[in-house]
Amino acid sequence: MGEVDKQLALRMITLFSGAVKGMAFYPPSHPAIRQPLLELDRLFGAALAQNGHITWGTVDGLMFFGEHLFITPSTAVADLTNRMMEKGIDRIVMESGLTFDELQEFVRLLSGTTDGPDELRARMERQQIRHILVARRKDAPLPDQPEEGDDEMGEGYALATYGQALGAIRGVCRDIEQGRIPSSAPVIGAVQRLAGITLRDPSTLLGLAMIKDYDNYTFNHCVNVGVLAMSLGAALGMDADGVREVGIAGQLHDIGKTMIPKEIVNKPGKLSGAEFREMQRHSELGAKIIREMEGLGPRVGQAVLGHHLHYNRSGYPEWARGFDYDRMIDIIAIADTYDAITTLRVYQHPVTPRAALGVMQKLMGTILDGDLVTRFVGMMGRYPVGTLVRLDTNEVALVHRPNPLDEEAPVVRIVLTADGARLPAPREQKLAERDGTSYARIVAVVDPLLKNIDVGSLINSRHY
Ligand SMILES: [Fe+2]
Ligand SMILES: [Fe+2]
Repeated sequence: MGEVDKQLALRMITLFSGAVKGMAFYPPSHPAIRQPLLELDRLFGAALAQNGHITWGTVDGLMFFGEHLFITPSTAVADLTNRMMEKGIDRIVMESGLTFDELQEFVRLLSGTTDGPDELRARMERQQIRHILVARRKDAPLPDQPEEGDDEMGEGYALATYGQALGAIRGVCRDIEQGRIPSSAPVIGAVQRLAGITLRDPSTLLGLAMIKDYDNYTFNHCVNVGVLAMSLGAALGMDADGVREVGIAGQLHDIGKTMIPKEIVNKPGKLSGAEFREMQRHSELGAKIIREMEGLGPRVGQAVLGHHLHYNRSGYPEWARGFDYDRMIDIIAIADTYDAITTLRVYQHPVTPRAALGVMQKLMGTILDGDLVTRFVGMMGRYPVGTLVRLDTNEVALVHRPNPLDEEAPVVRIVLTADGARLPAPREQKLAERDGTSYARIVAVVDPLLKNIDVGSLINSRHY
């Protein structure tokens, strides 16, 4: 470790501390996160090339890095020291072979609020972080190479959890229809799992929110709104409790519709004045049900009551316009609007994710909170998940996951070959590698209707 001088060690800890702190407020693609991570990656890479491994951590409340001890810590060093002590981590070992993705993921895990060392280690295993080891006590043996994680953090797990959430909402609606007070436990359970996924990687759930099930629109819409609200909440830096709460409110926001006559809820085409007024009652009916359900905080009921009030409070219910509301109602309004615009209903064409963001930008400051729209658009990226694009290879592909390093070059699934032939199973393809090599560039956005492509089912298929 002699090769890392104290100045450099301090620089690395400071960058690390800043990245951990920033990750709670910005998505990884934001320059405030990306810049320090890139520099950190470079510095660690150089140091590891010389040393093979770097050991750092805390001892008696002080930060050490290799052989250096920081006795009078700067704010950044003190912040990171406290965070590591809170999480019960005494020692971190970085090994050569460390990748940027591992570093970024590790920073993200440390920025979360709830993990103890065991949970952190389990998450690191699942995320396949293989070149960073954490130890609880300085004299404790380091864990062996992490074992192969189960599929818990894979897309299969996310999809299964989405299904669980759908089942939970269906159960709530059935209970209401049968005149029972719905049980909240299944919804809370599903949201807890979804929140776990979203806090680790919000992009996983953005794909799920493209599932559109036209036969079960209300359930599907509720789950999607919950998922999108959680992703936005996580991107805004909400803690785990906040993300869970906004998720529960999102999932339940329209349950009041269960008490409105089906002919009105499912009516294709415009509602009459009287029908519209009846439909508007779903906010207050939903809030009333939530008040009766066990284990849901008052903020959930309030968010459901206010989800159609609009940012400028021109919405309904009129009698509830003057109350104080948490920002949750504005987050849910954004998720609600996005899902509604991107969903095909009998009387409307679906709008592409990108066009939907454009529509929402027109509502900034009036119907929707402008600041939140900006954050939402930033989170979705230039080519939001679910966007169909043409590449300069002439292939047509579906955007599958954002690329935090380059929003022009997401991970896609190629669905049509250069000759326009449909691939039997979409092929996953990164448009750019970290070393700068590029597979292809996006040249245009394609209308899925023209190509007769069902975006939701493709994006969540597991054939790749
Ligand atoms: Fe609603
Ligand atoms: Fe809704």
